[in-house]
Amino acid sequence: MKRHEQAIEKATKSINQAKDKVSKNYWRLNYHVASPAYWINDPNGFIFYKGEYHLFYQHHPFTSQWGPMHWGHVKSKDLTFWEHLPVALAPSEEYDKDGCFSGSAIEKDGKLYLMYTGHKWTGENHDTDLEQVQCLAVSEDGVSFKKIASNPVIKGAPEGDIHPHHIRDPKVWKHGDYYYCVIGNKTKEEVGQVLLYRSEDLLEWEFLNIVAKGGGNFGFMWECPDLFHLDGHDILMMSPQGMVSEGHLYQNLHQSGYVLGKLDYESGKLDHGSFRLLDYGFDFYAPQSTIDDQGRRVMVAWMAMWESEMPEQEFDWAGAMTLPRQLFIEDGQIISKPMPEVEKLRNNLTQFENVIFDGKRVFEGVSGYCLELDIVIDAKEATQFGLRLRVNDESKEETVLSYDCNESFLTLDRNKSGKGLKGIRKAPVELKDNQLHLRVFLDKSSIEIFINGGEKVMTSRIYPSESSTGIEFFAKGPISINSLKKWNLDKSVDVITKYSKSMAEN
Ligand code: FRU
Repeated sequence: MKRHEQAIEKATKSINQAKDKVSKNYWRLNYHVASPAYWINDPNGFIFYKGEYHLFYQHHPFTSQWGPMHWGHVKSKDLTFWEHLPVALAPSEEYDKDGCFSGSAIEKDGKLYLMYTGHKWTGENHDTDLEQVQCLAVSEDGVSFKKIASNPVIKGAPEGDIHPHHIRDPKVWKHGDYYYCVIGNKTKEEVGQVLLYRSEDLLEWEFLNIVAKGGGNFGFMWECPDLFHLDGHDILMMSPQGMVSEGHLYQNLHQSGYVLGKLDYESGKLDHGSFRLLDYGFDFYAPQSTIDDQGRRVMVAWMAMWESEMPEQEFDWAGAMTLPRQLFIEDGQIISKPMPEVEKLRNNLTQFENVIFDGKRVFEGVSGYCLELDIVIDAKEATQFGLRLRVNDESKEETVLSYDCNESFLTLDRNKSGKGLKGIRKAPVELKDNQLHLRVFLDKSSIEIFINGGEKVMTSRIYPSESSTGIEFFAKGPISINSLKKWNLDKSVDVITKYSKSMAEN
């Protein structure tokens, strides 16, 4: 497979040439995964393998725009400190000549297998003129991957109301004696659906059924499916393209969410309830999960959105991963919490308790751009309250989080955040004992808000200037800040390690 090695070498050279300059850009994130240079999208192949977490991602290693997809690669011992590894997959064969699209990973006989979509354009129209097949690549060391000789392992669509060309993003898992995979698809009439396959050996696959299908306002194509068991339920996560907005819901171009139900492994059907969003922010797509050695279900997503303006493109990079999150089920819903390991990054705690005020309030030592806030607010008699983050009063930059006690919505407002897209997003949030609990993670160009223990989450990119570091609380009517904790967070990505140094010298 010389061709594959050459294609990887070309990608590595391109990244190495750009990365020093890219690293100087102020918006580079301190503790979120991004590629050392150029474009990334979906997380791929997320797996706990031989004691380490491996995370791959859709990557175009030549420009900051989407292009022929490669797989970038990072690994971590703790989901917090990440190390860059060489590009894992590059288009090199006839069946994947225009891209190695999204997919997943599984361990078999001690080897690491990647299952991905080989993508080919067959004409000018990018909606109709394409061919997608499912392929395997294998690694003995978890670093260099060989595409198998019998690729593609799934070619052509099964009979029935199954679109023959839009068939992508295999997510593989083992259950009993079989391997299973779900694949994103749509009907010939543009209704999103997911296909379920079964295999004894990862090489020969049998189509079982359409495991779930949309209808109504449920998208014209379902991308990046993921099916897993959690706390007594079978969960299908997917990213439906083209749902129409309904009030505060489905405001982004495409959505990511889940249905909860029971999978019948014999019939290949999922009996499930209604669709729920996984995140209420601007930038969250194509989530993928894995299970680790502690039995934790961990999810990560692309922290961006298709067709969004991405101001970092000017600086030769684009896109990042969200913080990894642990998933739980509570009251029939997914709850997502930051992994406890992120707390390793905390330093310099500043803390306040039981501060009652009405109007505006700043706290000494509570400011910055790379930090975590843990806040419990009692709404008392206020009608509205919240906080302004990344504030610069001179340039009038601010990112505003405000809770409306009458409407019961938390609003994230990035109209004045800095460069880039504007707008607001709203999450429905009920106070608990009249209290709101927020955990806010700020990185140099991102914000993630975990609300009431992860019952709702809002994830967004923001592009403030370096000097926008203020934090100010506000309230219409008295509130009590029962507890306010602020930690600065250390850098854990793009940290120079022995390994990254020797890679750069090669
Ligand atoms: C989702 C997606 C996938 C596809 C990949 C291509 O964001 O469109 O369906 O495999 O991105 O980069």
